[in-house]
Amino acid sequence: MLKELQLVEYHPDTAAAYRDVIKGLLKPVKELPPKLFYDERGSQLFDQITQQPEYYPTRIEQKIMDQHIDAIAARIGPDSLLVEYGSGSSQKTRTLLDHLPRLAGYVPIDISRDHLMQSAARLALAYPYLDILPVWADYETDFALPRPNRPVRHKVIYYPGSTLGNFHPEDAVAFLWHMRAVCGYDCDLLLGVDLKKDTTLLNLAYNDCAGVTADFNLNMLAHLNRELGADFNLDQFKHHAFYNEAAGRIEMHLVSLTRQTVRLIGHTIPFETGETIWTESSYKYTPTELATLAGRAGFAVEKVWTDPNRLFSVQYLTSKNV
Ligand code: AVI
Repeated sequence: MLKELQLVEYHPDTAAAYRDVIKGLLKPVKELPPKLFYDERGSQLFDQITQQPEYYPTRIEQKIMDQHIDAIAARIGPDSLLVEYGSGSSQKTRTLLDHLPRLAGYVPIDISRDHLMQSAARLALAYPYLDILPVWADYETDFALPRPNRPVRHKVIYYPGSTLGNFHPEDAVAFLWHMRAVCGYDCDLLLGVDLKKDTTLLNLAYNDCAGVTADFNLNMLAHLNRELGADFNLDQFKHHAFYNEAAGRIEMHLVSLTRQTVRLIGHTIPFETGETIWTESSYKYTPTELATLAGRAGFAVEKVWTDPNRLFSVQYLTSKNV
C-alpha cells in the first residue's frame, strides 16, 4: 500500500511578494524577481525550455550526472538526507535516487505546491521504500527541515540546474549561508554550475528559435495580470536576452514597445518606449570564480565533474568548520 505523503507547508508570503513587485517597478531601472516566473504556466514553460536544442545546460548536466553517477552516489553514501532546493519535476533527481537505495530520506522543496505534490506522488510510486518529505516553501525564507524516520548520517543539499547563477554574486553568498543555517553547518552541497563560454552559444541558449524562452519571460507579466489584477498588454512588451560579458551574466529583460502606463494594486507605472524591466540574471562562472564565491560562504569545493567541452559542471562541496 502507498504511504500518505506528509506535506510541510510554509505558505509563501504573498504580501511581501507584492511589495517586492512594486519596489522593483518603482526603481530607476525597473526589475522584477525571477521567482515570479514560476506559476503553473511558467513551470511548464521552463520544462519546455529545458527541451529546446539551444538550451544546453539541462542536457549537459544530465550527461555529466549519467557519466559520473557512481562516484557521485558513492560520495553521498548511504543513510544520507538528500535535500533538493527547487525540486520542480524532480526529473534530474531520479538519476541520484536510482543509485542511492539506502537514503535516510529525500526532502524536495518547491514554491509551486501543485508541481511539488504531483512530482512527490510520482516519486512515491517509483520509489516505495523512500521516505519522501516534501516542503512547500519559498526556499529563500526561513523554514525547518522535516525529520525522516531513520537516523541521518549526513545531509547533502542538491541544487542543480545552475539556479545559484540566478542570484547576483553577493546574494549568492548570502543565500549559501542561509542554506547552511537551515540545513546545518555540517551539510554538503551537490551543485550544478554553468560555466563561462563562447558568447554566441550563451546568447542562443536564451533566444531559442521556437520562442519558448520569450514566452517564459512574457508569462511573468501574464502572472501579474492574473494574480495582482495588473493590466500589462503582452503585445506591447518584447523579450530581450543577451550575454553581458563584463558582468559575466545573461540578462533577460522585457522591453516596452511603446510609451505606456500599467496599473497594478493601486499604482500607475509609466514606461518610455524602449524602457526595460530586468527580469533575470544568469551568472556564468569559471571553476575558480565559483570556488572563491562558495569559500566566502564556508564551502570548499572537493570535486568538479564537467563535460569534454567544459560547458557545464557538477560540483561537490563540503562545509568548512565554523
Ligand atoms: C533556472 N535557471 C537556472 C534558468 C537559467 O538558465 O538561468 C532559468 C532560465 N531562464 C531562461 N532560460 C532558463
